[in-house]
Amino acid sequence: MTNKYMYFIANWKMYGDIKSLNTLNKVIKFSKSNKINKGRLIYCPPYTLINSFLEKFKNCQIDIGGQNCHESENYGPYTGFINSRMLKKAGANYVIIGHSENREKGEDDKLINLKIKSALKAKLKVIFCIGETLNEKRKNKTQSILSKQIKAGLNQIKNKSHIFIAYEPIWAIGTGIIPKSEELLSTISFIKSKFKDRIPKVLYGGSVNPKNIKDLKEINNIDGFLIGGASQNPNKFIDIVKKTYS
Ligand code: PGA
Repeated sequence: MTNKYMYFIANWKMYGDIKSLNTLNKVIKFSKSNKINKGRLIYCPPYTLINSFLEKFKNCQIDIGGQNCHESENYGPYTGFINSRMLKKAGANYVIIGHSENREKGEDDKLINLKIKSALKAKLKVIFCIGETLNEKRKNKTQSILSKQIKAGLNQIKNKSHIFIAYEPIWAIGTGIIPKSEELLSTISFIKSKFKDRIPKVLYGGSVNPKNIKDLKEINNIDGFLIGGASQNPNKFIDIVKKTYS
């Protein structure tokens, strides 16, 4: 059983419309119960729903995040993009940066670093995603890949107090497979060992669900979870939170 302060971040990806708002009622009710006074719920809906989610969450403690942002902190002629300032002004307090689904589309460490810098300037907390592919894992390259991603992604960023690291092995995302507990324990501690003065919160993401949470919550250096698929179902999301504390 864990007794520590944990973060539960719902990453809705490119899912959800105005009707999905009804599914939040249960979660709102749950958030008002005293069962989660040791945790924080954060929803990262698609941009189109940020405003409606805020309205919905106005009397509860659930926070909002964006799923990505443009690297420019200024407004500009970038059709189809949203910057960190816009997210902040829309009411978000967090932003996911470096998700593997975006890295796969060409976001490299340098671009991710610029995005993180702009998000910090806009006073957003950053959920910085890192993770290795299956191939890299098989070649025993997990640690070197994570080191590189951390070093390049956080290059020239002195104050890391608003950075959360989300360790998401790419082979675990949406696959139903999660790392072995001892592997995860050692990878999370490796990630934490990369930081000297202030160790960031490190979250795990990749196929977190109400079944495997029983094992995941036993890994005592994990500070929370980034939850994709299961977060769109309010019962599953609540179950994950409840089981973390039971
Ligand atoms: P998943 O997604 O929980 O559906 O595996 C996690 C993520 O991509 O953040």
